[in-house]
Amino acid sequence: MTARIIDGKAVAERLRAGLATRIAGLHFRPGLRVVRVGEDPASGVYVRNKDRAALAAGFDSSTIHLPAEARESDLLMLVENLNIDPAVDGILVQLPLPPQIRPEMVIAAIDPAKDVDGFHTVNAGKLVTRQHGLVPCTPKGVMHLLREAGATLRGARAVVLGRSQIVGRPMAQLLLDADCTVTMVHSNTRDLAAECRRAEILVAAVGKPELVRGDWVGEGAIVIDVGINRNAAGKLVGDVAFAEALPRAAAITPVPGGVGPMTIACLLENTLEAALARRG
Ligand code: GUN
Repeated sequence: MTARIIDGKAVAERLRAGLATRIAGLHFRPGLRVVRVGEDPASGVYVRNKDRAALAAGFDSSTIHLPAEARESDLLMLVENLNIDPAVDGILVQLPLPPQIRPEMVIAAIDPAKDVDGFHTVNAGKLVTRQHGLVPCTPKGVMHLLREAGATLRGARAVVLGRSQIVGRPMAQLLLDADCTVTMVHSNTRDLAAECRRAEILVAAVGKPELVRGDWVGEGAIVIDVGINRNAAGKLVGDVAFAEALPRAAAITPVPGGVGPMTIACLLENTLEAALARRG
């Protein structure tokens, strides 16, 4: 058997087209502001992609670029201005930030109703208490992909590899809410391979190139690879050794073209949700 490849690019395109149709029917354009500080080259690419996708779907989107030496107070003041700007529905401050700026202070300053990353503690708290808030984009995108892949979630053994604030933790919460039996595993887990092999749904989000080998993947598992890494040869690879996993998995996301495009689509979905919640 060889795994079906889950085409995240196509799913994301459909999601974005649906958003564009909904926006075309509104009497206003939902506003997104993406803030970039400094010159991190990867951030430059991500921010450009977000802005481009937002404009194409009909959002009022723009990027605000602060210099690398900006002070924390400059960024906090900018966030405050965006918080009170009625044209702005979503605020995203691209991470990482330069060392003089504490990300937790910046995230805490964003109006939770405009926190389209879902990183604010108010939104994190809403997620664990099952209230309706803004959900982090990458785990939200993974849930879309699992549903598109036809995964049976109720009762499924799901293993989340990685416990980050941005992906692993909210991912586990969403899978739990979808009635999976969820196990979180990480660098201190004894016998990682055996834990992963038990998974019917395996979500890898550790940022380690090809950590998950073929024999870590159970026969017939659905494998979602959140990692985007460069290997020693400079090639873009996921957290899963794709070619090794292919003969064992039932379905798998590629890198690139799997989860990555979904993160941007879900950012736009969150921005529309935030806009509708604010302006009806
Ligand atoms: N840097 C890498 N991923 C993300 C993300 O999802 N949101 C933000 N704001 N910064 C990031």
